[in-house]
Amino acid sequence: MKNFSVVILAAGAGKRMKSSLPKVMHELSGKPLLKWVIDSVSVLRPDNLVLVLGWRAEFVGDFLAGSDSGDIKVVYQKEQLGSGHALMQAWEILRDYRGDILVLNADVPLIKSSTLLSLIENNRRTGASATVLVARTDNPFGYGRVIIKNGSCLEKIVEEKDATTVEKRIKEINSGVYCFDKNLWRALLKLKPDNVREEYYITDTIAVLRELGKKVSSVVVEDSCEVKGINTRIELSEVERMLKEKKIKELLDDGVTIIDTDNVYISYDAKIGIDSIIYPGVFIGIGVSIGKNCIIKGSSYIRNSRIGDASTILYSYVEDVVVNEKVKIGPFSHIRQNSVLKKNVKVGNFSEVKESVVSENSKIGHLSYIGDSQVGEGVNIGAGTITCNYDGIVKHETVIGSRSFIGSNVNLVAPVRIGESVFVAAGSTITHDVPSGKLAIGRVRQEIKKKSGDTKNSP
Ligand code: UD1
Ligand code: CA
Repeated sequence: MKNFSVVILAAGAGKRMKSSLPKVMHELSGKPLLKWVIDSVSVLRPDNLVLVLGWRAEFVGDFLAGSDSGDIKVVYQKEQLGSGHALMQAWEILRDYRGDILVLNADVPLIKSSTLLSLIENNRRTGASATVLVARTDNPFGYGRVIIKNGSCLEKIVEEKDATTVEKRIKEINSGVYCFDKNLWRALLKLKPDNVREEYYITDTIAVLRELGKKVSSVVVEDSCEVKGINTRIELSEVERMLKEKKIKELLDDGVTIIDTDNVYISYDAKIGIDSIIYPGVFIGIGVSIGKNCIIKGSSYIRNSRIGDASTILYSYVEDVVVNEKVKIGPFSHIRQNSVLKKNVKVGNFSEVKESVVSENSKIGHLSYIGDSQVGEGVNIGAGTITCNYDGIVKHETVIGSRSFIGSNVNLVAPVRIGESVFVAAGSTITHDVPSGKLAIGRVRQEIKKKSGDTKNSP
């Protein structure tokens, strides 16, 4: 769609969240509320995406700087004088703009791109100066009520706090998503803060446009869940539950077994292959794909990771990693930060792998730390092996060649290279490179001495 720009209103403090963080930075399924809205509008490629920030804007600024949110023009609302006043701040960017202006509250995370398109299309088709996205709900409490006359022609929006008892019974609510034509700026100039909260309400632009003789239209969203606004932590958790339940149903339909659906967390974007089994207590966060025939068991936490087919994860913490097929992790392993576990790898009890590649058929069975390492194929890492990767200032690399055997309780002081088919004796501290095919022992030789008080003349 061409010729439209977007303004997202995100300057409010979100007092009802009772938080030191701006409301729009609270996460729904691991993603800030604001980012949900940005993602939904970005795919439509608007001419301009203007974001109005205000209360604790630096939190949002820092987040945007580190995210892939595209080209966003930020304007600031210094004092939070209401949603209408927030929108006025976009004038400095859009004053000469002639296309449609789509305005969204930043706290409606589930809004769909297709719904936004239908709003713009409706505004153009009907020749209206504004189109409001409206929802019907049995529980309209807290929302602005929409006064519609003659079919779809909107007269005004009345806020909960300003509504009469009769108006409060209206079940058509304002979703906080609007499409305006260029008459928006004229209407905004006429806003007055003559309401209970003494704020400049964006919602009053509707009555103003009507007074100016302009047409205002509405589009009713089919599923009111899509426009659920989040003002409180209760609402945040309700939407979280809604998303989770929808996702779980989809996964069950698609051939995944989830043993106890009330006792798992699965992010809205998770991909899980058929015949995988998710046991109670599992947390699958944002950015996870799990292959077919996998078993995820115990209180495992998995985030931003790819797990190959027929892999097993037991009671483990897995984040930012790639795991190939037939890998066994756990119980109680920590696999993190850009690690890759290739086919048939096993990382077991109380072992940690960080920023390392472990190649096919290698085993790290017990109590080991493998950091900043390249581990070849078919390597056996004995219990208690530690890569000493940090000298207090920088991290160093350890390389272990294929088919090497690292005995138990070995320290590999990095930087160090262990060749292929090397045997490192148990208890060694290895500080120098070991060539392929050799045996390395780096430990104090055992001595047998006489005990004090031992009178026998034995060695
Ligand atoms: C708003 C609507 C209400 C609608 C509901 C839908 C108004 C006056 N009311 O109510 O009709 O049913 O959304 O969810 O708009 N904001 C600023 N600066 C401010 C005040 C608010 O940028 O000074 C932003 C907020 O960050 C938020 C949006 O405007 O994204 C709406 O504000 P909020 O306080 O959440 O309004 P609601 O009471 O939910
Ligand atoms: Ca709101």
